[in-house]
Amino acid sequence: MKFQAAISLLSLIAPSLGDQTNNSHPLDGSHRDNRSLINLKPQRTSTRELVSLDGLWNFALAPDGNNTSTWTDPLPKGLECPVPASYNDIFVDRKIHDHVGWVLYQRDVIVPKGWSQERYLVRAEAATHKGRIYVNDRLLVEHVGGYTPFEADITDLVKAGEKFRLTIAVDNELTFQTIPPGQITVGEATGKKTQTYFHDFYNYAGLARSVWLYSVPRQHIQDVTIVTDVQNTAGLINYDVKVSNNTTGEISISVVDEDGTIVANATGAQGTVSIDSVNLWQPGAAYLYQFEVSIVESGETLDTYSIATGVRTVEIRGTQFLINGNPFYFTGFGAHEDTTVRGKGHDQAYMVHDFQLRQWMGANSFRTSHYPYAEEVMDFADRNGIVVIDETAAVGLNIGLTSGTVGEAPSTFSPERINNETREVHAQAIRELVHRDKNHASVVFWSIANEPASNEEGSREYFEPLAKLTRELDPSRPVAFVNVGAADYEKDLISDLFDITCINRYFGWYSQTGDLEEAEAALEAELQGWEQKFNRPIIMTEYGADTVAGLHSVFGLPWSEEFQVDMLDMYHRVFDRTPAMAGEHVWNFADFQTSVGVRRVDGNKKGVFTRDRKPKAAAHSLRKRWTEMGASK
Ligand SMILES: *[C@@H]1O[C@H](CO)[C@@H](O)[C@H](O)[C@H]1NC(C)=O
Ligand SMILES: *[C@@H]1O[C@H](CO)[C@@H](O)[C@H](O)[C@H]1NC(C)=O
Ligand SMILES: *[C@@H]1O[C@H](CO)[C@@H](O)[C@H](O)[C@H]1NC(C)=O
Ligand SMILES: *[C@@H]1O[C@H](CO)[C@@H](O)[C@H](O)[C@H]1NC(C)=O
Ligand SMILES: *[C@@H]1O[C@H](CO)[C@@H](O)[C@H](O)[C@H]1NC(C)=O
Ligand SMILES: *[C@@H]1O[C@H](CO)[C@@H](O)[C@H](O)[C@H]1NC(C)=O
Ligand SMILES: *[C@@H]1O[C@H](CO)[C@@H](O)[C@H](O)[C@H]1NC(C)=O
Ligand SMILES: *[C@@H]1O[C@H](CO)[C@@H](O)[C@H](O)[C@H]1NC(C)=O
Repeated sequence: MKFQAAISLLSLIAPSLGDQTNNSHPLDGSHRDNRSLINLKPQRTSTRELVSLDGLWNFALAPDGNNTSTWTDPLPKGLECPVPASYNDIFVDRKIHDHVGWVLYQRDVIVPKGWSQERYLVRAEAATHKGRIYVNDRLLVEHVGGYTPFEADITDLVKAGEKFRLTIAVDNELTFQTIPPGQITVGEATGKKTQTYFHDFYNYAGLARSVWLYSVPRQHIQDVTIVTDVQNTAGLINYDVKVSNNTTGEISISVVDEDGTIVANATGAQGTVSIDSVNLWQPGAAYLYQFEVSIVESGETLDTYSIATGVRTVEIRGTQFLINGNPFYFTGFGAHEDTTVRGKGHDQAYMVHDFQLRQWMGANSFRTSHYPYAEEVMDFADRNGIVVIDETAAVGLNIGLTSGTVGEAPSTFSPERINNETREVHAQAIRELVHRDKNHASVVFWSIANEPASNEEGSREYFEPLAKLTRELDPSRPVAFVNVGAADYEKDLISDLFDITCINRYFGWYSQTGDLEEAEAALEAELQGWEQKFNRPIIMTEYGADTVAGLHSVFGLPWSEEFQVDMLDMYHRVFDRTPAMAGEHVWNFADFQTSVGVRRVDGNKKGVFTRDRKPKAAAHSLRKRWTEMGASK
């Protein structure tokens, strides 16, 4: 199946799910309409300025029971919290670590004097899981969803050259109507709120990504959508530019190659530009053109914005996943944005080091398990030729699944739990992910959920419109979800709605624990089942074993480094005799933090690296396999 190298008109207008749309929440509703118009990632160009608001902010927990909607005050002196970082592990205070509800970040900001002719905005790259931006005593914007950006235009509230008090409130509560979902319990004796959830990683919260103050000209470029194609030796860039109201200037396009040579020009808001003898963006060999958009009037450039554009195609043919017409086999890991002290705080040093480790391993790809990663990571993947499976934060739509084990569970999809309102929030999460990441060459397909209860009644009604929405938003990429073990090839009810089979399996760990012979037979049967059911690519998006670094066993028992090596080897034997296999992503890149529980000692230990990025024995065996696979291509 060749994915349409065409631009969806819908990508610019954020379609609704139809009858089920529930925009009755006034604050969410009005913002939702504006959110489809969120600007492109801030960029410093000859017409745009950018001020980082990262650093130390005043910080406080919101008073219990105070929903902060009327918050106007300067915060009490005392705590300062770094941005970007999750706040949970920063302070030596259990109350902050375990806090459920709103927190407040606050600082003074001066709008540069020179911006009097511009429009200016405050942008938060993420606030987990709900954020509000206040300017002085005014609430401007509320945003739902912890991993996508939101912003407030403050031009009409603060004059250039003036100082204002910026407060960002952040709520970490998860309910059945959030993505991801969770539940709050209240202690009988203490009345204390506790957050529980259905995903196996810690609910880090706060401002884990950058905050910006930036300017755009009054006539400015609001959005650009790019879809590439290849015709013989020419690269085609189909584009659609959206500009602000009041724009009277003409739109002008230049495509600049890596040597700085203009290789194509065009004018107009929509069209196709062609690059002769194109250098393709290839896995492991990124080539990026700058797609420069300008608004020009009477010879003057009013606005200019540049998008790093890799020309490549994606196609599914039978059981093969093709990039630029060549079969691509995914190697690498699922991972988390997770480090000590910072929690999910974006960190450039860890980002670069983690990419280095992936490249050292011979890994060619990763999945943004289980939420959209920082936009800087996507840019870095584009520049480094790393292929990305881009996933929403819809993890844990599976009430029975906790810490990877299945218990007796109430039904997931029901009016009291994952319901139509949840689905609308999920739809918005998909819109925002596609809107943010649609121009990344590295992103080859979308994963709209991880391990939902796709074996349960109601899953099809829930997912059918979401799969359709994703295709409408982006007809140029395949759409997938990641299937859980309990919804095996016979029990799953939704996989036919998707293009690729992505499965997570733990034979030998959560089942057949420690018995790799039984596990091998079960894995083989499962893969054959999927292969026969759908003649299409299968990617093992998770497989792995908890492993305590430094624990050894002459018997190769579970938890030892030997077991992790043996178990991965067993999976690889089975993959190598399964023709439909198109990729393998070990769970996990590195050990990571989870909620406290009787099954987890200081987090999940399925990392091939420790949390501080030291290799376990499996790193070396995987490295051998993946570098040899890469060399034989
Ligand atoms: C929409 O959501 C509101 C509250 O979030 C709820 O009271 C109402 O019943 C919902 N309406 C529909 C049609 O689902
Ligand atoms: C959304 O945009 C409208 C029209 O520009 C504006 O009146 C409204 O206040 C905005 N809502 C939010 C939450 O920013
Ligand atoms: C916040 O609390 C106030 C006072 O209790 C209430 O009137 C308001 O509706 C609440 N707002 C939100 C968004 O929860
Ligand atoms: C919440 O806290 C703010 C700031 O102290 C205060 O102005 C407001 O009255 C409080 N609201 C409620 C409902 O307690
Ligand atoms: C932009 O123009 C359109 C069409 O005239 C109008 O509907 C919309 O409200 C305007 N938006 C703003 C932010 O001025
Ligand atoms: C658009 O133009 C009108 C009339 O000149 C002006 O009042 C308005 O502020 C402008 N809007 C923007 C977003 O610049
Ligand atoms: C694009 O336009 C520039 C400026 O007008 C011109 O110098 C250049 O030759 C053009 N390049 C192509 C490939 O059309
Ligand atoms: C969703 O809404 C439909 C129509 O109102 C209803 O029949 C169905 O039970 C709802 N589904 C859930 C999971 O609440």
